[in-house]
Amino acid sequence: MEPYTRHVLVCTGGFCSHDRGGRAIYARLASLLQRHGLLFGPTRVKRSETPCLGVCAGGPIVAVYPEGVWYAGVTPELLDRIVVEHLKEGRVVEEAVFHRLGAGGG
Ligand code: FES
Repeated sequence: MEPYTRHVLVCTGGFCSHDRGGRAIYARLASLLQRHGLLFGPTRVKRSETPCLGVCAGGPIVAVYPEGVWYAGVTPELLDRIVVEHLKEGRVVEEAVFHRLGAGGG
């Protein structure tokens, strides 16, 4: 199997966002990955949905690995930035990060 560069987890559960807003984010992520050439090749990204990430507030919640960066309140506009700036260009969208794995919480 060709390796993935990153793995993006989107919470599509009903507690962190109204009307399960994560579902729309998860669907939008698919088209954005395709648009930006991140489905195949050396920079390809794996996309997964999960029913809960244990945060259950301030969503939709999106987590990006291997950085272990968690984003809150992910709107369609913020998702666009995450895809272009973080997944494509390797720059974390710092102002939307609420937690980093292994960074002492926060
Ligand atoms: S329902 Fe989304 S984090 Fe728990």
